[in-house]
Amino acid sequence: MEATINYNFIYCFEIEFQDALVLKAPKRSPLVLRTVVLLFAMVCGVYICLICLKQISTRTKIRLLNIKVFDQPCQAPNIEESEIPFVHYPDPETFSREECACNPVRFFAILSMQRSGSGWFETLLNSHINVSSNGEIFSVSDRRVNISSIVSTMDKVYNLDWFTSASKNECSAAVGFKWMFNQGLMKHHDDIAEYFKRNGVSVIFLFRRNLLRRMISLLANSYDKDAKLLNGTHKSHVHSPTEAKILAKYKPTLNSTLLLPELKQVEQTAAKAIEYFNSTRHIVLFYEDLIHNRAKLKEVQEFLRLPYRELTSRQVKIHRGPLSKQVENWNEIEQALKGTSYESFLHSDYQM
Ligand SMILES: *[C@@H]1O[C@H](CO)[C@@H](O)[C@H](O)[C@H]1NC(C)=O
Ligand SMILES: *[C@@H]1O[C@H](CO)[C@@H](O)[C@H](O)[C@H]1NC(C)=O
Ligand SMILES: *[C@@H]1O[C@H](CO)[C@@H](O)[C@H](O)[C@H]1NC(C)=O
Ligand SMILES: *[C@@H]1O[C@H](CO)[C@@H](O)[C@H](O)[C@H]1NC(C)=O
Ligand SMILES: *[C@@H]1O[C@H](CO)[C@@H](O)[C@H](O)[C@H]1NC(C)=O
Repeated sequence: MEATINYNFIYCFEIEFQDALVLKAPKRSPLVLRTVVLLFAMVCGVYICLICLKQISTRTKIRLLNIKVFDQPCQAPNIEESEIPFVHYPDPETFSREECACNPVRFFAILSMQRSGSGWFETLLNSHINVSSNGEIFSVSDRRVNISSIVSTMDKVYNLDWFTSASKNECSAAVGFKWMFNQGLMKHHDDIAEYFKRNGVSVIFLFRRNLLRRMISLLANSYDKDAKLLNGTHKSHVHSPTEAKILAKYKPTLNSTLLLPELKQVEQTAAKAIEYFNSTRHIVLFYEDLIHNRAKLKEVQEFLRLPYRELTSRQVKIHRGPLSKQVENWNEIEQALKGTSYESFLHSDYQM
């Protein structure tokens, strides 16, 4: 402020001085006059520059002071010893957390497979005013080419510097994203588990019990990528019963020879993932349980130490009713699974 006043003063002074010089001009040689004016202008310029520099350095000092103030750890009361590694106070580079600067933040990652209800689950989480779940950030292959780009992406998310439609910015109490096993997660599992432990990231596994239903959903979704049944746009999730009905019209044909080995493989992948991340703080959820039992959502909020809220989603389930109506070659599938450990997939049913 002071510097600005000085500047104005100098500016006015300079103009007056120039006027004075102009008035006296006829009496002196123009060359001398011009030199004097030029010299004076130069001196003023240097002076103004010095003031600017001083101002900038003062600002930097103030910023450094601010950072120092923030470096002082916030200490939320009533936090048990065992919880401390999971409680964070991020200091984002892109904005200030303002009045929520000392609200603790939990880090989480939803680990899942395609068509297991994780999209729906994420909309539920994001309906909480204090949760930012930022979607499948590792669906972009650049972000998972090597462990260093994975780590720098996660650092940005957990520092609240990652912006998506789900960002709640300053008052987030839990921040995370969802991660499919085939998006570099299994490949780099050692380093990622290490990162989760080092940074106190809580893991939410989300599986689907009925892997046959998942397989049908997978095939239908992959068919729609080309067919684009909804007026020429491909949708993986829908928000109206009409749209759901249109998508459910397509009945895929399952290769009954591959069915058993494929189901086995999915099961093994899930078991492996739990093993890899066993040493992290984690919870295992099943899509079917979340649908049947709303108390499960309470469990999730407790796991993330969130203030309890009723969670809502506008998504509508695409495939409803008995499975026999949803595939072309039901008889073949029945034959293939009868007498195996997957037989129950044929019969289990649920409504949303
Ligand atoms: C990781 O990938 C990024 C982006 O392609 C590249 O710039 C970086 O050098 C790679 N780092 C390592 C350690 O390979
Ligand atoms: C949740 O968000 C609200 C509104 O932004 C904020 O007032 C509150 O402090 C937040 N709660 C937590 C636990 O961070
Ligand atoms: C498709 O477009 C028609 C006409 O524009 C509209 O009436 C209909 O609701 C649309 N259907 C869907 C599923 O979006
Ligand atoms: C099922 O998959 C196997 C192995 O890929 C293939 O040989 C067979 O032709 C497929 N069957 C049908 C009906 O597509
Ligand atoms: C995870 O670790 C616990 C104890 O460390 C062990 O009892 C359990 O069997 C492990 N689970 C898996 C799936 O590896």
